[in-house]
Amino acid sequence: MTDLEKELQDALAQVKTALAAVSDMNALEECRVRFLGRKGLMPALMAQLGKVPQDQKPAVGKTVNLVKQEIQQAFDDCGARLNQDQKTASALDVTLPGRQRAIGHKHPINLVMDSAVAIFRRMGFIVADGPDIETVANNFDALNSPQDHPSRTPDDTFYFDLDQHHWLDPEALILRTQTSPVQIRAMKAQKPPVRIICPGRCYRRDTPDATHGMSFHQIEGLYVDQCVSLADLKGTLAAFAREMFGTHTKVRFRPHFFPFTEPSVECDASCIVCGGKGCRVCKGSGWIEIAGAGMVNPAVFQNVGYDPDTTTGFAFGLGIERMAMIRYAINDLRLLYDNDVRFLHQF
Ligand code: DAH
Repeated sequence: MTDLEKELQDALAQVKTALAAVSDMNALEECRVRFLGRKGLMPALMAQLGKVPQDQKPAVGKTVNLVKQEIQQAFDDCGARLNQDQKTASALDVTLPGRQRAIGHKHPINLVMDSAVAIFRRMGFIVADGPDIETVANNFDALNSPQDHPSRTPDDTFYFDLDQHHWLDPEALILRTQTSPVQIRAMKAQKPPVRIICPGRCYRRDTPDATHGMSFHQIEGLYVDQCVSLADLKGTLAAFAREMFGTHTKVRFRPHFFPFTEPSVECDASCIVCGGKGCRVCKGSGWIEIAGAGMVNPAVFQNVGYDPDTTTGFAFGLGIERMAMIRYAINDLRLLYDNDVRFLHQF
């Protein structure tokens, strides 16, 4: 190998080492000038080709061509690598702020449910739970519901096993029509005093419209002790309404009938939209019904094994959908179940 050939191989090695360290286009250009530029290493070596003896020229010329090709290839490869790096770098810009993941939020039904639970818990009630699938015994019989009540028929209530049980059979299984059976479960499980609330889902064979669904939510309340009075019930619901709908909210009781309470009442809150003057939301009356309630019927105490002569208590059942409609001024309950995120995002 001639000296020139050695120098050429050496130059190629230098080029490769230099290019391996190149990390941007400016550095690449510097290399190009250093090795291939007019005053660079390669033209200097090429200039020596003329001094090579005639007989060695073909062999040296071949080496020159090979080295030139390899050097060109090394520059091309380096350029391609930089391009690729740039593409990857622009795809992953680590200085960009992180992408926010939409985590959603609570459904308006749950928002109202959670507020109601929080308010009653502050008053000392604890949350009790019961199954959505109930027995006729718990949902109707123990609650003193008369056998001829129309709500018990399969036209009004979802039964599971009518091929095995008559719908009056205490063991027949249904989708609970109210949260009141949780009262029965709670009282059977413990002695007084009892102070529970039970938020949950109920089911009825209603034709859905703006104010009815075949499934809806209630929050049941039960307070059993000695010397509990209707005044305690009213005070509790009044305090609840003020917390839930605003400090100026008033409540009123209207006489009603429920088999499991005696006396029974329906509880209205003063309309939060018009403050009681009368508007479209309260249909001009100034009041909006929020709960059924009353003093626990001694027959119910008897059914759960409590002494009906010495035990007293009140109970109530609040409609969650109704409260959501009042709180958020929603005029059709079905909107709550359509699951259109454009609607749900507003709450
Ligand atoms: N269970 C009743 C209903 O679904 C609501 C109710 C009324 C619950 C009076 C009660 C009560 O606990 O005392 O219509």
